[in-house]
Amino acid sequence: MLQLENLSVCFGGLTAVNAVTLSVGTHDVVGLVGPNGAGKTTLFNAISGLVRPTSGRITFDETDVLGAPMYKRARMGIGRTFQIPQPMHELTVRENLMVAQRFGTGSVDQKKIDEILDFTSLASKAGRNASTDLALTELKALEVAKALATNPKLLLLDEVLAGLETTGKRHFMSMLKNLHEKFSVGIIIIEHDIETISNLCQRVVVLNFGELIADGTPDAVFNDPAVIKSYTGGAHA
Ligand SMILES: Nc1ncnc2c1ncn2[C@@H]1O[C@H](COP(=O)(O)OP(=O)(O)OP(=O)(O)O)[C@@H](O)[C@H]1O
Ligand SMILES: [Mg+2]
Repeated sequence: MLQLENLSVCFGGLTAVNAVTLSVGTHDVVGLVGPNGAGKTTLFNAISGLVRPTSGRITFDETDVLGAPMYKRARMGIGRTFQIPQPMHELTVRENLMVAQRFGTGSVDQKKIDEILDFTSLASKAGRNASTDLALTELKALEVAKALATNPKLLLLDEVLAGLETTGKRHFMSMLKNLHEKFSVGIIIIEHDIETISNLCQRVVVLNFGELIADGTPDAVFNDPAVIKSYTGGAHA
C-alpha cells in the first residue's frame, strides 16, 4: 500500500531523513522508533505532504503521491495525528471531527462521526469546546478521532500515548489494539516506550540520524546491537 523508495528530506545542511526505503501493507501494524531527532516525525510529514522530500519516491496504492497536496493524500487514505495535539480552536469536539471528515472525504457523515466518538470514548464530550474543555487523554483521543474521521486506509500515529499516566495509557492501548480491526487500517505508530511497541506491533522499524537501521519483529529489533547502540549514543555511521 505505502512504498517509500530512497526517500530523503534535507533542511539546509541537515539530512533529517536519509534514503529511507520501506513498504507498509494494509494489514501491518508497524512501530517506528528511534532516538529524539532521528527523523520520525519528518518521515510522517513527508508521507502526509507537510514537507517536500529532497529526493526519492512515495507511492500509495501504486500511485505516485509526491506532487499531491495534503488533502489529496488524505482522500487517497493517508491519515495522521500530530505529536502536539492540534484541536481547532473555538470548535466543539464534534465540529472538529466534521472539519476533519470534510478534509479527508469531501463530505460529512454524522453516523460515522457518532461511531468514532463512541470508539474514542468522546461521546459525552461531543458538544464541549475542544481547545479548552478537554483533559490530555481526551485531547490525544481527539487526535486519533480526527484522523479516523478522514477515513484512512493507513494511519500515522505520532506519539499518541506520550505524557499519559498509567490508567489513561492502559485505556488508550486497548483502543489502539481494536482500531486496526474495527476500521481495517494499516498503522504506523511512533512511540518511545519499547513495551508499548512490543505489545501493539508485529513489526518495528528503527530510524537513527535519518537512516533506517533495522526492520523486523520487536524481539529481533530490540535485541539488535546496532539498535541498542543507537539509543546509547554514537552510532552515526
Ligand atoms: N521544519 C524543520 N526545519 C529545520 N529542521 C527541522 C525541521 N523539522 C525537523 N527538523 C530537524 O530534523 C531532525 C529530525 O526531526 P524530527 O522532528 O523528525 O525527529 P523525531 O525523530 O520526530 O524526534 P522526537 O522523538 O524528538 O519527536 C531534527 O534534527 C530536527 O531539529
Ligand atoms: Mg517526533
